[in-house]
Amino acid sequence: MEKVELIWKNGELVPWDEANVHVLSHGLHYGTGVFEGIRCYETESRGPAIFRHADHLNRLEQSAELYYMELPYSAEELRQATHELIRRNGLRSCYIRPLAFRGYGEMGLYAQSAPIDVIIAVWPWGAYLGEEGKRKGIRTKVASWRAISAESAIPHAKASGQYLNSILAKTESAKAGYEEAILLDQHGFVSEGSGENIFLVRDGVICTPPHTAAILDGITRASVIQIARDLGYTVEERGIARSELYLAEEAFLTGTAAELVPIREVDDHEIGEPGEITRVIQEKFEDALHGRAEEYLEWLDPVGETASTGDASGEANPNEVGEPASGKVGS
Ligand SMILES: Cc1ncc(COP(=O)(O)O)c(C=O)c1O
Repeated sequence: MEKVELIWKNGELVPWDEANVHVLSHGLHYGTGVFEGIRCYETESRGPAIFRHADHLNRLEQSAELYYMELPYSAEELRQATHELIRRNGLRSCYIRPLAFRGYGEMGLYAQSAPIDVIIAVWPWGAYLGEEGKRKGIRTKVASWRAISAESAIPHAKASGQYLNSILAKTESAKAGYEEAILLDQHGFVSEGSGENIFLVRDGVICTPPHTAAILDGITRASVIQIARDLGYTVEERGIARSELYLAEEAFLTGTAAELVPIREVDDHEIGEPGEITRVIQEKFEDALHGRAEEYLEWLDPVGETASTGDASGEANPNEVGEPASGKVGS
């Protein structure tokens, strides 16, 4: 991964290489963490802006609540900290990873006195499934692993430990030569990708699994549903049989890291080149991300101008909103 200068940790900006934890941190042993994946884009009208920032921070708070973790910072404090972090690192577009985890202090499974540590990291990160994948589509495989059901964990929470399930599925598909895994839920219906929600087109209707199919309630999913409906398409949230994957006219994945990625193959069944509905929605979604779609500008949270472009050297900039970057660490 590409390093930047600073990471926000428990209210302070610390050098990237010094953002460390104790080896007996609870989250490291039991996966007791909740996190978000967010992106900031260079936009034409608003400068660097974070896509649906408030919705991501809201989901972080919900994930924490679902695992009985009280966040020591408000969503607004985390929002402001993220703005400052991006500016101080001199970034204009980046991936953003807030993580709240049980830290060092108590072991065992009911460790309510283990502190909740919070970090925010930002770094440049290109399209998760590749630029070519976004253009031409990817090859996918249905995983032998079922998605964690609501009977054994909380699909709606974006919780660290739960990702072992995604990692098994992703690893299996990668080792078999595919670019992404699709998981079925406990009933054998289509759930989602290892890190993305899934959409199919059947008879011209866009379908996506409902909340009851062990999915994460994706923010990209919600954006794409709104865009598709605004464009006049019908979108149904309904149970999807595995065979429908193979018979789909079009299919695509959505997620913050991956963005909107067409699927061109599932289990060696050809879906083909990205179809028209996928293309039209992908284009509008890209416009929304980059501030070119007037109707979706409210989804953008501008971070203010960086002190200098490309580094955090601290040179004065008349457009600067926050404190000038400097060698000094700490906020
Ligand atoms: C398992 C899983 N499903 C779906 C998504 C897509 O969610 P979002 O669009 O909010 O990034 C993600 C990514 O966060 C994910 O990890």
